[in-house]
Amino acid sequence: MDSFIVTIDGPAGSGKSTIAKMIAKKYNFTYLDTGAMYRMIALYVIRHNIDLENKKEIEEMLKNVKLDIQGNTFYLNGEDVSEAIRTPEVSKIVSPVAAIKEVRVKLVDMQREISFGKRIILDGRDMGTTVFPKADVKIFLIASPEIRAKRRLKEYDEKGIAATYEEVLESIKERDYIDSTRKESPLVKAQDAHEIDSSKLNIDDVLKEISAYIDKKI
Ligand code: C5P
Repeated sequence: MDSFIVTIDGPAGSGKSTIAKMIAKKYNFTYLDTGAMYRMIALYVIRHNIDLENKKEIEEMLKNVKLDIQGNTFYLNGEDVSEAIRTPEVSKIVSPVAAIKEVRVKLVDMQREISFGKRIILDGRDMGTTVFPKADVKIFLIASPEIRAKRRLKEYDEKGIAATYEEVLESIKERDYIDSTRKESPLVKAQDAHEIDSSKLNIDDVLKEISAYIDKKI
C-alpha cells in the first residue's frame, strides 16, 4: 500500500485531535498526536527540574528519554503517562520546551520514522510546513481563542481537573503567542494548506470538508 500523509496544524483547542481521530477511523489511517510527544518531554522537564537554559542538561535529558507510542497510549521511559501529560501544569510549560531546537530535532526525526510508508494523519503545529512539506493533504484548523478556551475547560471539567475559564483562556493565548513567534518551526499556515475555521462549523461539517479534500487525492 502506498503511503498517504494528511497533516492538521493549528492552535491549541482548535479541534485537531478530535477530527484527526475521526478521519483515522473513517479511512483506517494511523493517527499520531505530535503534541503529546512534546508534552512527554515537558513532563520529564517538570519531574527532573531540567533547566531550559542549560544546553548540556537538555542534551543529557534527550539521551535519557525514551518515548513509546502505542495508538493513543503514551509511554515515557516505560510508564504510561497518557493522563499525566494533559494537566494544566504540563500545558503551561510545553511551549517553551517545544521552542528548543534540540527537542524539535529529536521529535521531528521520530515523527518521520513513525510515518514512513504509512497511511497516516498527524496533528501538530509544523506538520505541513517543516515535517511533511510534501504531505498529500494539509489542513490548517483554527477557531477563536474564546471558543478554544471553552472547549479545553469542558475537557478539564470532564476529567475533574480544576481550572477557571480565565486561566485557560490566558494559557491558550500565551501558548499561541510562543508557538507562533518562536524561531524554530513556528505555527504558521503552509501556503498550500486548506484553512478551516471550526468556530463556525460543527464537527460533522469539518469532517465532511476534510474528507472531500482526501477523497480528491486518495
Ligand atoms: O497539540 P497540543 O496542544 O497538545 O500541543 C502541545 C504543545 O506542543 C503546543 O502548544 C506546542 O508548543 C507544541 N507542539 C509543537 N509542534 C507540534 C505539536 C505540538 O511545537 N508539532
